[in-house]
Amino acid sequence: MPTGDALTRLAAEAVIFWADKAMARRGVFHWALSGGGTPRALYALLATMPHAARVDWSRVHVWWSDERAVPPDHPDSNFRMAWETLLRHVPIPPAHVHRLQADLGAAEAARVCEQELNHVILQQAAGIPRFDLVLLGMGDDGHTASLFPYTSALQVRDRWVVDNPVPKLSTTRITFTYPLINAAEAVIFLVAGQSKAATLREVLLGSLDLQRLPAQGVMPLNGKLQWMVDQAAAANVVPRPTYPSEEFIYRRVALG
Ligand code: 6PG
Repeated sequence: MPTGDALTRLAAEAVIFWADKAMARRGVFHWALSGGGTPRALYALLATMPHAARVDWSRVHVWWSDERAVPPDHPDSNFRMAWETLLRHVPIPPAHVHRLQADLGAAEAARVCEQELNHVILQQAAGIPRFDLVLLGMGDDGHTASLFPYTSALQVRDRWVVDNPVPKLSTTRITFTYPLINAAEAVIFLVAGQSKAATLREVLLGSLDLQRLPAQGVMPLNGKLQWMVDQAAAANVVPRPTYPSEEFIYRRVALG
């Protein structure tokens, strides 16, 4: 079972795997980044040698699966976190950094991102932009991206990105919706820490309750779902598969 550093290394290998696959297939890699704290170490590792040299950054496009209602230089900004840990250190073309422009206001930022998606991501899956990789985290309340329990975005099926009022945080966030996430080629959940253990057990092994546990709603329709979880977060997930490698990937069968 991976510990923090091992999980970071495994996640970096997974990102590079999906990047290589996308670039071989269509010459470009569209990657939706996750926010929060867990991916910091992953981004920092990808920004350093030898990992940084294993990605052709000129063919990478980065997006964000969600953003807080703050300007890009705010300490809480998911853009700022990715910029500081990864994007400022690698030769990614500025035009390939598709920031969720929260400074426009959440509703307008969502609309602008949808227009960009329409224009930039050529490969469509059933009329929905298909990301090569969507990286997600999971909160200890079972949210993912900014799909929080009992919020309006959970019901949305006719939009790709929306503004989502989150009463418990007294804010409105910007988030990818289930249709956009579930159209992806690959979705990886990166989850670490003891605080996630109880919720992870419920999400993976408990009964389906998308309102209470939004992470359960991530079920790629024609793509791969991987849970990359460290020892502490996986403590309650039993029976624990005995994978030969230190990698613990739990594939939840899409429940249709
Ligand atoms: C955000 C994230 C969010 C995050 C989870 C886990 O904007 O906060 O996108 O969905 O992935 O809250 O956050 P941690 O990695 O900090 O536990």
